[in-house]
Amino acid sequence: MAYWIDSHSHMIFDEFKENFEEYIQRAVEQNVRRIMCVCLNKEQLQRGFELKEKYPFFDLSIGYFPLDIPKITEQDWKDLEELVQDERVVAVGEIGLDYFWDTSYNDLQKECFIRQIELANKVNKPIIVHTRDAHEDALEVLLAHPPVKGGIMHCYSGSLENARKLEPLGMCFAFGGPLTYTNSLEGKDVVREMPLSCLLVETDCPSLPPQAHQGEMSETSYVHYPGECVASLKGISVEEVQEQMQINYEKLFGKMVG
Ligand code: NI
Repeated sequence: MAYWIDSHSHMIFDEFKENFEEYIQRAVEQNVRRIMCVCLNKEQLQRGFELKEKYPFFDLSIGYFPLDIPKITEQDWKDLEELVQDERVVAVGEIGLDYFWDTSYNDLQKECFIRQIELANKVNKPIIVHTRDAHEDALEVLLAHPPVKGGIMHCYSGSLENARKLEPLGMCFAFGGPLTYTNSLEGKDVVREMPLSCLLVETDCPSLPPQAHQGEMSETSYVHYPGECVASLKGISVEEVQEQMQINYEKLFGKMVG
């Protein structure tokens, strides 16, 4: 049976610690059968490993988030090099560029973005990319340092033109809550114009709730909202969306183990 995959969640965040089982139960009720859990540091990944023992449908990734870059130490880099080799880690991310809050260390962000793409290439794993107010620079970095195993442009908010340049690099475009906002015109355009074979959905929970849950904390059971939005924009059934997204996701991260 076809099901939803949440290609970007932060289920290891403290927000979910209490009532964790309930979040899982609601996700299962909404037909979510696989969840990428994006870890931003070693401690979160440790919790991810514990989760994965109990819930094999969690996939794990680790990478240093652009806004955390100034506090990353040499020891952290050594740790990352080791952690990404773990077979339970299926991707390097979320990595990328975020110029929204502070532009004083853009160059350092770029350098660390490249360093992590190269690390992903070394271990033959895809990347998960975060960009905010930095679409042109991110495109430039990716074209100059292509990810050998492709990856995901998470919560894609770039242009259709950029998407067309990124797709040949093996990048997929994941859409979450913001796709359901009435003002998400460019995102809807990308979904309409790009082939379904490079599209995914996500929640980025606990952030970015869909329109229907504005002002609430997002959770992985909400992934059907952007998913249904993709189906209606493409004029196809939800099942078709789920089936193709499963293919897209498995192409990047393999079939579910366990
Ligand atoms: Ni995220």
